[in-house]
Amino acid sequence: MTTPVDTVVVGATGAVGAAMLQVLADRGFPVGRLRVVASSRSAGGKVTFRGRELTLEAPSAEVFRGSRLALFSAGASVSREWGPVAAREGCLVVDNSSAFRMDPEVPLVVPEVNPQRIPSPPRGIIANPNCSTIQLMVALKPLHDAAGLEHVVVSTYQAISGKGARAVAEFDTQVRALLQGEPPPVSVLPGVLAGNLLCDWKHEPNGFSEEELKMVAESQKILELPGLRVSPTCVRVPVRNAHSESVWARFSRPLGREEALAVLRRAPGVLVSDAIGPGKHPQPREVSGQDEVFVGRVREDLGDPQALSLWVVGDNLRKGAATNAVQIAERYFQA
Ligand SMILES: NC(=O)c1ccc[n+]([C@@H]2O[C@H](COP(=O)([O-])OP(=O)(O)OC[C@H]3O[C@@H](n4cnc5c(N)ncnc54)[C@H](OP(=O)(O)O)[C@@H]3O)[C@@H](O)[C@H]2O)c1
Repeated sequence: MTTPVDTVVVGATGAVGAAMLQVLADRGFPVGRLRVVASSRSAGGKVTFRGRELTLEAPSAEVFRGSRLALFSAGASVSREWGPVAAREGCLVVDNSSAFRMDPEVPLVVPEVNPQRIPSPPRGIIANPNCSTIQLMVALKPLHDAAGLEHVVVSTYQAISGKGARAVAEFDTQVRALLQGEPPPVSVLPGVLAGNLLCDWKHEPNGFSEEELKMVAESQKILELPGLRVSPTCVRVPVRNAHSESVWARFSRPLGREEALAVLRRAPGVLVSDAIGPGKHPQPREVSGQDEVFVGRVREDLGDPQALSLWVVGDNLRKGAATNAVQIAERYFQA
């Protein structure tokens, strides 16, 4: 793939936007002219791409004119307002927000799982799933193909960067304040995360958080299994980057550890760590900065021969957002 693709990155100053610029460079994506967009507060400021300074612009129809790719990571309201504008201006829009994920006319894509949904998106928009869903899908799809997935119970250990650049900065300030015996500031996060755990998403009347319900609906859409049972619990942990997940999955037939490991070793985008012992599981500190989804601690359930437990770790800013988006663009422009 060598033809230059004129590209717009929306949300370029954010946690995902910074990863997007890095991933475009790391993967050698053939970026032609690059325009970078953030809020009007940042317009006129600079970001760097491949050693070159670029000037930030506020969103406008003109920003997208003449480009072929727009990578959005500026939140759902920005995507709702400007995504269709960018598509009308001729861009393929790959959107990291939740704005279009459940739109029946918008494919929800993890390239290792459902690449067949990439060509000819009806609205010119392809949605990236939620970061927790992406890594879960990369790990479970090959096992589903082998043995038929029936029920997933997943608990997440989600990194602070998943809540954006300001949350990471606030966490650092909280740690410094606690060390100095001062009250930790709380404004972006809903409480003190230093030395603590938080469920920091909006909750629905049924007691589930928005994040948990996204994992259910998005998994069902991506796998095209509307009846799939998904039972999630999402938790924010004081880890800077890379989400971890404890996954229990039940299949339509027994699937032993060795067979599951063999399936996972062949699976695209998965790195298997089958070492057993303290500290030998995939860890967010090692996985941060990597594009693969790491799977370890594969265990046969002690009471149910049709169930397995797994430990799944992925970089939420890269595979959970930027890498997934760039992989979609790579496939789209290769077609
Ligand atoms: N963080 C993750 O791990 C992750 C993973 C998957 C998906 N996502 C999704 O990706 C999106 C961005 O997340 P993030 O974590 O990168 O957030 P973030 O660090 O808070 O960055 C938000 C970005 O959006 C820009 N922005 C805000 N209002 C804008 C406006 N009116 N017009 C144009 N740009 C505007 C900000 O620009 P300023 O600097 O000018 O404010 C900044 O560049 C969200 O929808 C999030 O749900 C995040």
